[in-house]
Amino acid sequence: MSADGDVPAEPALVGNGDRRLTVASSVPPLVVSGVSKIYANRLRSEKAVTAVDDVSFTIAPGAAVALVGASGSGKSTLAKMITGSERPTAGSITFGDLAVERLRRNALRRFHGRVQIIFQDPYGALNPLHTVGYAVMRPCENFLDMSPREAMGRVHELLETVGLTPPTQYAAKLPHQLSGGQRQRVVIARALACNPELIVADEPVSMLDVSLRAGVLRLLAKFREERGLSLLYITHDLLGARVVSDEIIVLNRGRIVEQGRTKQVLQHPRDSYTVQLLNAVANPFAAGDGARPSPEALPARPPAEPAV
Ligand SMILES: Nc1ncnc2c1ncn2[C@@H]1O[C@H](COP(=O)(O)OP(=O)(O)OP(=O)(O)O)[C@@H](O)[C@H]1O
Ligand SMILES: [Mg+2]
Repeated sequence: MSADGDVPAEPALVGNGDRRLTVASSVPPLVVSGVSKIYANRLRSEKAVTAVDDVSFTIAPGAAVALVGASGSGKSTLAKMITGSERPTAGSITFGDLAVERLRRNALRRFHGRVQIIFQDPYGALNPLHTVGYAVMRPCENFLDMSPREAMGRVHELLETVGLTPPTQYAAKLPHQLSGGQRQRVVIARALACNPELIVADEPVSMLDVSLRAGVLRLLAKFREERGLSLLYITHDLLGARVVSDEIIVLNRGRIVEQGRTKQVLQHPRDSYTVQLLNAVANPFAAGDGARPSPEALPARPPAEPAV
């Protein structure tokens, strides 16, 4: 196990072997083992909160796992521990031979080139003073050691990939000139810029209207398949989980109450909490053939903005 400051082993590569241009062919497993997080009380009157309670699971290389649960069930806390921004109170998280909770400084920075997080709020995620081009270019320069010229070429490629065309026009825009869906596409392009091996997407579409949600979910699913990266998709929404994931983990008050193949869990939930979550949305899978629904089947919200 590598500790703080150790140089991680280079992942095996596909294609021409240049990590700047290709995706790792052997993405390591992420292993979460007996992890708990207790937020201590800051005031005497406050109680300590057990946000995550003895959680264990593995994301196999290239797997798409959905983490679902009601508000306050500990999903984001788990995401923060997996990406190294919070430390577990107990337990361990490993990504290949790295113990995530022991990473500091440079080792943590290198880890962030391999594991990217996409947050719920595309409005807060981008610096309002930075152009789209600059936001997507920085990880290319920082993690892939590209020259500004090389990085800008890659920015244009990435913007095209996420459907922001013509890329030269979008690269020059500031975040306030974009819709929510367009912003979230920029955030995805930025997350993909350093060829991550694992993406943790924390409710990436919950602030978007239905037409934009479908497009963003399709993009995530497409990249996961094309690039062979692993995905942890965090959501309240079981239908979205069905679109994107192969496996599902249901969290209730910080504990795993059910896990298994997504189709199986949604068709034949065993835990009463999963049944409650399913009952909270229209469930077209219970009596159906379990076919993967189209992203358009996601629950509608009143459209707030024009489609991307
Ligand atoms: N920094 C913190 N200090 C104290 N308590 C916290 C902190 N962060 C989260 N919590 C508490 O931990 C619990 C889990 O929070 P978390 O944000 O992980 O839930 P969540 O499942 O992501 O919810 P949501 O779906 O609303 O985003 C909640 O009770 C929350 O109030
Ligand atoms: Mg959350």
